[in-house]
Amino acid sequence: MKEFTKGKRILVEIEDFSVKGDGISKTGEKPVVVPFSVPGDRLKVRITDIKKTYVLGEIEEILEPSEHRIAPRCPHFGECGGCPWQMIDYKAQLAFKRDALVKLLSEFMGTSLPLDDVSGMEDPWFFRNKAQYPLKRLGSGKVIMGFYRKGTNHIADLEECPVEYRMLNELINPIKELLSAEKITVFARERNWGKLRYLIMRGSERQGEVLVVLVARMQAVSVKLARKIVELDPLHIVGVVENINPSYGNVILGPTFKKILGAESYKEKILGNTFRVSAGSFFQTNVVQAELLLRELRERVGETRFLLDLYSGVGLFSITLADKAQRVIGVEENSFSYFDALHNAYINDQANVEFVQGKAEGVIMGLGKPDVVVLDPPRAGLHDDVIAGLHYLRPERIFYVSCNPRSFARDALSLIGIGYELVHISPYDFFPHTPHVEVLSEFRLKV
Ligand SMILES: C[S@@+](CC[C@H](N)C(=O)[O-])C[C@H]1O[C@@H](n2cnc3c(N)ncnc32)[C@H](O)[C@@H]1O
Repeated sequence: MKEFTKGKRILVEIEDFSVKGDGISKTGEKPVVVPFSVPGDRLKVRITDIKKTYVLGEIEEILEPSEHRIAPRCPHFGECGGCPWQMIDYKAQLAFKRDALVKLLSEFMGTSLPLDDVSGMEDPWFFRNKAQYPLKRLGSGKVIMGFYRKGTNHIADLEECPVEYRMLNELINPIKELLSAEKITVFARERNWGKLRYLIMRGSERQGEVLVVLVARMQAVSVKLARKIVELDPLHIVGVVENINPSYGNVILGPTFKKILGAESYKEKILGNTFRVSAGSFFQTNVVQAELLLRELRERVGETRFLLDLYSGVGLFSITLADKAQRVIGVEENSFSYFDALHNAYINDQANVEFVQGKAEGVIMGLGKPDVVVLDPPRAGLHDDVIAGLHYLRPERIFYVSCNPRSFARDALSLIGIGYELVHISPYDFFPHTPHVEVLSEFRLKV
């Protein structure tokens, strides 16, 4: 048995992944969790922290690399927590994601499951349509923007990000230079002072549109500044929006958005339909993979009468499935997404699609009896009242899309408990180089 003390160097062999996707060795008195390690690695590790149930280690030397270890592509790898699996060969990433799903789901359900391989990307680079960076002005006056160094409040400067769209990458340095030359103050947490906090860029590569959102503690962004931003790439930047976030906390967006110049939304086209996405609305960050998932969902849904789309965002699923149903109702809590959804149904000429603004758990009982329900909740999963509503409504089929396998497994058990059979799970890789996985699943009411 290995004795653990902080600072001590130990030799470990990585056997598995922790729930969060860090490599783990289980041969000592407690599991040793080592970020950026891969099963099969033999490592010299320095112990950095001792927790109640595990020990945290940092790689000091790779004595023998795992057969799945590759050189990470990004110059910021290790510092930035964004892509903790970049050192794993892409094929192996997909296999590891499937293994983790099988393990988790059989822990919850105790049986083998109808699980496909994880559908990966042909080219898992430059796929993200959204970038958000904290800002900082250095003593020299230079403005840096980038990411919080893993586990700290320290902002590191970003030069490039190989998972974000190329057109967003191309704006990183020009925006830093522009803000460095401007007098606008930048938030400094340690002094609780300064206005600008974050810069967000969202857009569609296919449509060639970028929306720039500047998050400030109080009104700060002038039309003059917005014009200079647009001039950096007038072909692609469609608008500049200001978000006001006066809070001291770490939440990025505040409640108020204000258009400064140009459009307050961008457009995306998915499977032939056009979607308006406003600065405050949710939209899938990997549209190539979302499109793959939607194709499968369309096939599985087939022809139906009344489809209820809970957690509908800007109407991506409702509108994509509209021609498959006589009637569709989408339910969405967020008002920006809800108004985008209304607009999107109109511009795609889909008169059989309606949207209701409200909490799924609050309105589910008042919308009639659907034969198909599509669920795509946030990471926390379904509210108990949604399960209770489904129990009462008894739709023939439920399609559950989830970005969090743990809450999905819990909810799947509840759906099985109210009389459904889990007939299929298709995992998709929406988040290459991270341990995250998206699943599309189908439940059928047992007769
Ligand atoms: C994962 S997103 C899915 C959106 C949409 N299906 C898509 O693919 O674009 C979840 C959505 O649920 C909304 N939401 C969160 N909690 C909700 C609730 N209790 N009731 C209804 N909508 C909610 C969020 O605003 C967000 O738009």
